[in-house]
Amino acid sequence: MPRETAAVIMAAGKSTRMVTEMPKVLHEICGRPMLAYVIDACRAAGIKRIVCVVGYRKDEVINAFGREPDITFVEQKEQKGTGHAVMVCREALASFDGDLVIIAGDMPLLRHETLELLTKTHQAQNSAVTLATAVLDDPTGYGRIVRDSYGNLEGIVEESDCSPEQKKIKEVNPSYYCFNKKLLFEALEQVRPDNAKGEFYLTDALHILIRAGHRAVAITAVAAEDAMGINSRLDLALVGRVMQNRIQRNLMMNGVTIVDPENTWIDVRAEIGQDTVIHPFTYIHGRVRIGRHCSIGPFAYLRDGTVLADDVVVGVFTELKNSTLGTGTRARHLSYIGDAEIGERVNVGAGTLFANFDGERIHRSQVGHDTYIGNGSIIVAPIQVGQNKQIPHGTVVKNDSNGSAQNCSKQGGAS
Ligand code: UD1
Ligand code: CA
Repeated sequence: MPRETAAVIMAAGKSTRMVTEMPKVLHEICGRPMLAYVIDACRAAGIKRIVCVVGYRKDEVINAFGREPDITFVEQKEQKGTGHAVMVCREALASFDGDLVIIAGDMPLLRHETLELLTKTHQAQNSAVTLATAVLDDPTGYGRIVRDSYGNLEGIVEESDCSPEQKKIKEVNPSYYCFNKKLLFEALEQVRPDNAKGEFYLTDALHILIRAGHRAVAITAVAAEDAMGINSRLDLALVGRVMQNRIQRNLMMNGVTIVDPENTWIDVRAEIGQDTVIHPFTYIHGRVRIGRHCSIGPFAYLRDGTVLADDVVVGVFTELKNSTLGTGTRARHLSYIGDAEIGERVNVGAGTLFANFDGERIHRSQVGHDTYIGNGSIIVAPIQVGQNKQIPHGTVVKNDSNGSAQNCSKQGGAS
């Protein structure tokens, strides 16, 4: 029977290079905090128990994830290094006896397949520690993997402790580890902060295990792209671009046409149906659901809570928020649709505005099936416009004193 695996995600650091007040791991990549991707990769790899090490502004991180039952938070009050970050998890893991995957919270490109390969190899080789490494054209900033002439793992040397020869090594440590938990904590007790940075290095626990004759294996299993971590705003943008490509590729594989991927941005939480076409300069942000055979954009802005049925057209300079459009409804030009529930086959004329905010509160609107809204209309919420109504061009539609919509007539009737 395979041994049980738990994960430790290191996310306590302040990240000076981000120049940020917000904890680094809460910065968003394609609509979700970077830490969410790391947590999801653990879950997808079958890891049932996750310990997250937090420190800098920990309450904000806990608030963002705290309600999830498989995650335990452990505070590292002072950030004394990656070895120390794992050491503070001792109590939280006291009852756990298995393998520990250890990863950093600032590497959202990590794939669950790599974690699975890491844990499988670790168990198959029956090793004390297994690492997944990457080969990079530019290894600057990473710990280098040192192997002997047979290719066996000898250790990891941090950049600040590297000799000029070692600096040339292109195989690096992206921080994907799997340790035998019991052996790891025994080794951590012996780690001392005797290095250039004065920190307790997790990588030293690996050296201690190797020196004691335990089996240590390094597999070159991390694609260069996936090894990209986030240390600055520049990295945030670069990793965001890679993630955006993955999101779009995935949608295209599922039958969505994206006319100009470079000039389109789609949130990782968006769902888009087959044969829908996304035209250039479309920005889809938040939990958005789009049906099949829709046409979106160019220059459309779909925000959180937008739900489009099938055969919907949302055209140029149209913004939607927290609104539902029924099958066959069209909003082709220059509209704002906020907090509205619009039925099927409705024509939303050019320049229609849903006035959903009265300065204090947001109100909702409803529009029934087959209603025609003329160009330049303003629908003042809260309001219910029935089915089959005809709203002439340039109308302000609001409730009269009896609470029924004024200024709309039956289709075909005079107004
Ligand atoms: C570490 C590795 C290095 C590797 C690199 C990959 C060590 C000694 N070195 O270096 O070999 O190439 O990651 O990115 O492990 N953290 C804590 N508490 C701490 C210190 C760090 O939670 O006390 C967290 C940070 O928030 C971060 C992660 O651990 O998410 C990595 O720490 P960082 O200081 O960035 O390590 P590197 O110097 O990059
Ligand atoms: Ca780092």
